[in-house]
Amino acid sequence: MNRIFSGVQPTGNLHLGNYLGAIRNWVALQHDYDCIFCIVDLHAVTVPQDPVQLRAQTREVTAAYIAAGIDPERCVIFNQSTVPGHAELAWLLGCQTPLGWLNRMTQFKEKAGKQREEAGLGLYSYPVLMAADILLYKATHVPVGEDQKQHLELSRDIAGAFNRRFGVEFFPLPEPMIFGTATRVMSLRDGTKKMSKSDQSDYSRINMTDDADAIALKIRKAKTDPNPLPETAKDAEARPEADNLLGIYAALSDLTRDQVIEQWAGKSFSTFKSDLADLSSSVLGKIGGEMRRLLAEPGYIDDILRRGAERANAVAKPHLQEVFDIMGLLRP
Ligand code: TYM
Repeated sequence: MNRIFSGVQPTGNLHLGNYLGAIRNWVALQHDYDCIFCIVDLHAVTVPQDPVQLRAQTREVTAAYIAAGIDPERCVIFNQSTVPGHAELAWLLGCQTPLGWLNRMTQFKEKAGKQREEAGLGLYSYPVLMAADILLYKATHVPVGEDQKQHLELSRDIAGAFNRRFGVEFFPLPEPMIFGTATRVMSLRDGTKKMSKSDQSDYSRINMTDDADAIALKIRKAKTDPNPLPETAKDAEARPEADNLLGIYAALSDLTRDQVIEQWAGKSFSTFKSDLADLSSSVLGKIGGEMRRLLAEPGYIDDILRRGAERANAVAKPHLQEVFDIMGLLRP
């Protein structure tokens, strides 16, 4: 069976972009693939984290997966640092990765910004760890949002380079799965910026745990232009804020973008926004409620993570052993 690997960093607030771009798609895919869903805490520590918060957020992301509908019996759910193979394989793959490939990564440039000299080595080599995450399980498919596309191309390059270097067909080249109408959810305050966990403005994103009032307020305040809703897809494309809200509406209601455009063509934003707020609250309200219920039982969450780690390790260890063999690292 084809295997899926994907993950979310336990940093900041999980938001509608994480849900629509990734987690919601995983829920739909879980019956057709062998699925491994990770809470990537080793990625989180590429920038400073408060230890107490990191632990809490690791449980929160786990709760979000389950509350959104990932079945922990069917899928493996675990946090990355409990499987040592991620860091080990990252080292081995890092030794096959030219610096030139990493220098092209736009996310490093964005995150390091002007403080490039102060940025940690981990932040720079982050995409190698991401390749290791996927290849450790020989995953064939990786469902993610649009922003991860470049990292996935690098994962494919690294897998190909390893296979060629050692003359093997060991790692499959993982296929990105970027689909739906909300592969890149934008900030509610600025249609040119991605909705992000780290945005300072609370009004820029809808968090997965927001209640109906917070959701309604944020959508009401979402930036739009003074015209009525677009009449055609072409018109929508030229209006990023409107296009973003239409994409969110379509994803939440399982309609195509064209169907939503047709339904709302020429109507006023105020009625559209109040409909979108109701739609968002009805989907996220259930998930947020379930998350809160799960988070009140940290023992249950930890049990899931512990069992997930065992299952993940059982897949990872033999693969890593084979990598050692292929590379000539003696296991006496
Ligand atoms: P992270 O934690 O930033 O985001 C988790 C998932 O949410 C998607 N996403 C979005 N989708 C649509 N619109 C947005 N505004 C938006 N923001 C985030 C991301 O594309 C991602 O799918 N490097 C990854 C985590 C990772 C990973 C992996 C993913 C580590 N190892 C291996 C897949 C496979 C990250 O930082 O995601």
